[in-house]
Amino acid sequence: MSEVNIDNVKAGFEKDILTVKDLRQIEDIRIKYLSRNGLLAKLFDELKNASPDEKPMLGKSLNSLRNEITEKFVSLKSGIESASQKLASKIDLSLPGVERTIGSKHLLTQTLDEIKTIFKGLGFSVFEGPELESDYNNFEALNFPFDHPARDMQDTYFINKDFLLRTHTSPVQIRVMTEQKPPVRVIMPGRVYRNEAVSSRSYCMFHQVEGLYVDTDVTFAELKGTLVSFARLFYGDDFKYRFRPSFFPFTEPSAEMDITCFLCHGEGCKVCKQTGWLEILGCGMVDPNVFKYVNYDPEKYTGYAFGMGIERTAMLKYGIDDIRVFFDNDLRFLKQF
Ligand code: DAH
Repeated sequence: MSEVNIDNVKAGFEKDILTVKDLRQIEDIRIKYLSRNGLLAKLFDELKNASPDEKPMLGKSLNSLRNEITEKFVSLKSGIESASQKLASKIDLSLPGVERTIGSKHLLTQTLDEIKTIFKGLGFSVFEGPELESDYNNFEALNFPFDHPARDMQDTYFINKDFLLRTHTSPVQIRVMTEQKPPVRVIMPGRVYRNEAVSSRSYCMFHQVEGLYVDTDVTFAELKGTLVSFARLFYGDDFKYRFRPSFFPFTEPSAEMDITCFLCHGEGCKVCKQTGWLEILGCGMVDPNVFKYVNYDPEKYTGYAFGMGIERTAMLKYGIDDIRVFFDNDLRFLKQF
């Protein structure tokens, strides 16, 4: 049991004041030592139990302890008070506040979000594949003959003989069909890579959205209907469209979809290179050879596929004439959207 005596109280006080940092702690000290029920009061209380011989000496010691403690307490308190006043005077309430900047979505993310929302509304789900892809998925199973020029080192970043950075999102079609049985109705967004000279029109990395619908009796008319609905929802109503015959190894027949130029409305201008038309995507009916690679019965199922570049889509919609601005991270550009 710790005895309350002069030495104890003195030592305790010396120790307690070492850690005092603020006015609240100062008040705690006052209550502990100097208040009506504090330790000093207790010592004075015990004075009446002392023998008449001891009383005068004890009383004197107690008085000097009280003086010492009070003096130290007062100076500690005023020191802390003036320090906190100084701090308060340093806070200048008239200074302008710190502006917090809030980030926003990159234009490419916004564009992809919009494309996703439209296709989800048309019954498509979203599926993603890896950027490092096998030659098999990227080319072979998509019916690219071994001597097809797209396999040339100029276009493809090969990792080794069997693996590469995917050059398009079409290999995700193979992944979906290998994993799922028909009916499948998916869009497949992602990053793709091509070993091309960087210019205002092409970049070594960009983004595509792939689409695939396979079921019994899927027709080219449905493909057209879906893509025209998409274009109306994305680009607005004010355009004409056309499907031009084209070629892709994995679709037969293949087509490209054009819409009339948003700038000149078909008159001919710099953006559409005087043609009046802008190509917005490639598409076609899934080639039966592709179905054989994924073990779908080509006699039973038909399907359509399409693919579009997200940068290109955003460039057309917003009249941007240089693909590099998407990757420069210049806030003057990004903040406009
Ligand atoms: N993969 C093609 C490309 O990168 C785009 C494409 C065309 C995708 C036709 C398709 C399609 O699914 O049917 O150029």
